[in-house]
Amino acid sequence: MKKVVIDPVTRIEGHLRVEVEVDDENIIQEAYVSGQLFRGIEIILKNRDPRDAGLLAGRICGVCTNSHFRAAVSCVEDAYHLQIPKNAQIIRDLMTMALFIQDHVVHFYHLHSLDFVDVTKALQADTALTSKTAYTYSDNPFRNSKSHYENVKQKLKTFVDSGKLGPFSNGYWGHKEYKLTPEQNLIIFSHYLDALKFQTNISKAIAIFGGKTPHPQSIVVGGISSVADMLNPARLNEYIFIIKESKEFIDRAYIPDMKLLATAYRHEIKAGSGRANGNFISVGGYEFDDSKLFESGVIYNHDFTNIDAFHHDKISEKVDRAWYRDDNQEEPFYTDLNKDATLKTEKNSDKYSWIKAPRYDDKPMECGPLARVLVSYSKQNRTLKPFVDTFLKEVDLELIDLSTTVGRNAARAIETQYIAEFIFKLTSNLLQNIKYYDTRTWTKYDFDTLAKESKGRSFFEVPRGILTHFINIKDKKIVNYSVIAPTTWNATPKNSDNQKGPYEEALVGIKIEDTKKPLEVLKVIHSFDPCLACAVHIIDTKEKELSSYKIK
Ligand code: NI
Repeated sequence: MKKVVIDPVTRIEGHLRVEVEVDDENIIQEAYVSGQLFRGIEIILKNRDPRDAGLLAGRICGVCTNSHFRAAVSCVEDAYHLQIPKNAQIIRDLMTMALFIQDHVVHFYHLHSLDFVDVTKALQADTALTSKTAYTYSDNPFRNSKSHYENVKQKLKTFVDSGKLGPFSNGYWGHKEYKLTPEQNLIIFSHYLDALKFQTNISKAIAIFGGKTPHPQSIVVGGISSVADMLNPARLNEYIFIIKESKEFIDRAYIPDMKLLATAYRHEIKAGSGRANGNFISVGGYEFDDSKLFESGVIYNHDFTNIDAFHHDKISEKVDRAWYRDDNQEEPFYTDLNKDATLKTEKNSDKYSWIKAPRYDDKPMECGPLARVLVSYSKQNRTLKPFVDTFLKEVDLELIDLSTTVGRNAARAIETQYIAEFIFKLTSNLLQNIKYYDTRTWTKYDFDTLAKESKGRSFFEVPRGILTHFINIKDKKIVNYSVIAPTTWNATPKNSDNQKGPYEEALVGIKIEDTKKPLEVLKVIHSFDPCLACAVHIIDTKEKELSSYKIK
C-alpha cells in the first residue's frame, strides 16, 4: 500500500491534510482527512454577556462570518424565548441569501474551477469558435463576443509570457484529468475573471444591511439595528439591483458552465465518481408565506423515496479518533508526535484530526447544497423542483447523478439560481410590510428580568450545510457554548466503529493517474467546499446533553 499525502490542501478555507492509501493500480483504498488547527473560540465565549455572543461567535470564521453571527444571536433569542419582528427576519434573510450567492460563486470559480480548467490550454483557443461553443450551453451566453475572448486571452498571455503565473502558478497543467477543449477552457476562465468583480458587488449587497462584510454588525438580540437602511428605498433598490445583476451572471455563466462540465465529465458522473455514503441531512428553513426555501429531512443510502423526518435528538458527537481526551472531550489531546516531539510523517491509526465526529442516528451524514437539493426535491418542494428538472433534462442526467463530484457542483449552482429568485419574493414581502406601516425591527426586552438560567439552540442551513449553535446561560453569563458546523459533518474523522465520513468515503475508489500530481483527490475534496476554521470545535461533555434541546 502506497501513501499519498496532501498537506496543506489549498484553495479552501483553513488547514486540511488529506492522506490516502492506494493499491498497485493507484486506486484509493483508504483515506484519512484531518483538520490541522486547534481553534477553541468557545472558550472565549465563556463568562461573557450573552448579548455579545453574536459578535464573538462571528469570529469563528472570516468566510462564514454572517452565518455564525446570526446563529449565535438566534441561539440567545431561543434561550430567552424572544420572538423577533417579521421585518428583522427578512433583513437577516436578505443578508444570508446574498452570502449564499457570494459563497457559491466564489467557491466554484476561484476555489474549484481550476480542477477542471487547464488555464494554459485556454491560450490555444480559437476565439470565434469559443463564442460559438458557448451557445451549446446557453441561448444568451455571458459576455460572449469574439473580441472579449481576445482580451481575456491577451490578459492570460501577459501572465504566461512574464513567467509569473501568479494565482495560476501551481496548477497541474497538462494533467490527463483535464478534459475540456481549449475553447471550453477559455469560456470558464473568462468567467473566472468576471467572478472577481461579481464577488465585490455581491459583498456590497451583504453590507447594505449588515453595515459591513465580512463580520457584519447589524444583528442584535431581539432584531436588527440597520433600521435606517431598511426604510430607505434607495438602499433596498441598490440591493435589488445587485441581485438582478448577479442573477444575470448565474443564469448566463454559472449554470451554463455547469452544463458544460456535466457534458464534458459525463463518463465520470455516470461512474459515480466522488460519491459518498448516500446519507444526507437537511434541517430546512427560510419559510415565507406559502413557500419554503429548503425542506428538512434525512436520506439514507440514496433512497429518495423514503425521506425520514429530521430529529435533533438523534445527533451525537464523539472523539474516539479526534485529538481530545476520551474522558474529557473538552481537553485537547494531540497524539501525532514522535517520542522526540517531532511531527510524524504518517497519521496515527487512532486519533488523527482536530475535527470531532458528529453522527446522526450513529451514521455519518453529508450536508450542504447537494443534501438540500436532494431532500427538497424528493419532498416535492414546488419552487425548487422546476430548477432541478430543467437542469437534469438539459444535460440528460438523473437525480442520483448529482451525488458525484461534478454533481455536487451542479447542485450548488442550481441552488444559487433558485435562491436568487427567492430573494425577490422576500424583498416584495418587506416592501409590503413597510407600505402598511409595519416598520418594527426590534422586540423590546428587559435584560435584568430575563430567566436566570436557560438553554438555547439554533439550527440553520448555511452555504456549506447545517450549522448548529448551543448555549447555556446562568446568571446572565454564558457558561457553555458549542457549535457543530457543516464541515464538521462532511470532514468528520472515523469513529471507533470505523465508518468513513463523506470526504473519506468519496475518495475511496478514485484512481490517481500520477501520485505526484493528485489532481483527482483535490477535485473530490474541493467539491465539498471545505471550511476548516468552522469545522474544529470543542464541546463540554459535562454540560453537553445535546438532546435536551427541544425543537419547537
Ligand atoms: Ni467557515
